[in-house]
Amino acid sequence: MACGGIELVNVSKSYGRLRALRGVTLTVRPGEIYGLLGPNGAGKTTALKIIVGLLRPDSGLVRVCGVDVVAERERALRRVGYVPENPVVFENLKVIEFFRLVASLRGIPREVFEERLKRYVQLFDLEGELGKRMGKLSRGNAQKVLAVAAFLPEPDVLVMDEPMSGMDPEAQRAFREEVARFARKGAAVIISSHQLPMVERLCTRVGIISGGRLLAEGALDEIRSRVGAGADAALEEVYLKLVGGGAG
Ligand SMILES: Nc1ncnc2c1ncn2[C@@H]1O[C@H](COP(=O)(O)OP(=O)(O)OP(=O)(O)O)[C@@H](O)[C@H]1O
Ligand SMILES: [Mg+2]
Repeated sequence: MACGGIELVNVSKSYGRLRALRGVTLTVRPGEIYGLLGPNGAGKTTALKIIVGLLRPDSGLVRVCGVDVVAERERALRRVGYVPENPVVFENLKVIEFFRLVASLRGIPREVFEERLKRYVQLFDLEGELGKRMGKLSRGNAQKVLAVAAFLPEPDVLVMDEPMSGMDPEAQRAFREEVARFARKGAAVIISSHQLPMVERLCTRVGIISGGRLLAEGALDEIRSRVGAGADAALEEVYLKLVGGGAG
């Protein structure tokens, strides 16, 4: 089941004169849950869009499941589930129609789809939302729907941009457990987030990006010791030390 995960090698990307990514190299192996952290405007969304082929890097290499995303986007993305930061979704589709569309685009057989959907509707308490139009959902319910859409095809790679923003505590727990289940099955997962306590509980490795550069990367213990923080220091403390350049 497991594929080759996610690889970025020396990836740079500018928007006009603004250098959003400056030589970022990172790897997310099968079974890993990688938390991509960093201040607003650091380049997290840019990096995730490059991984899913929505943006082309100016230079560097991007591979998903061992396939070059720039050269063979469609083949590379067959096994990827993506939660976008600003979903431009089908406002007028009903939620159930949106899920059916995902199923047909991803070639999920009907019975398999019905079974999976039933489980997710229960898990995320979405029964009352299925008949609503996508544009009329509350923020948290819209996030749940997008997460479920990413999970439904049972991808080998999950790329999620602030997927839990707005989710209630129950949904956050269900989300964490589901992501952990995917990782146990060998999926490679990358999640950008500002919710550090959640990242601490869920992620096996974190990368902290600022100004388009990766400042630090590793298991929490590794980056703790890098900034001289104690073994019980919270991720927030470590993060603030790194991003604040050691101040505080
Ligand atoms: N389409 C665009 N055109 C021009 N500049 C852009 C574009 N998208 C992003 N940027 C700029 O690139 C930089 C990185 O943005 P990005 O969205 O990747 O940051 P981020 O880390 O996801 O931030 P946030 O935590 O606020 O979501 C920012 O300076 C942003 O203003
Ligand atoms: Mg972003």
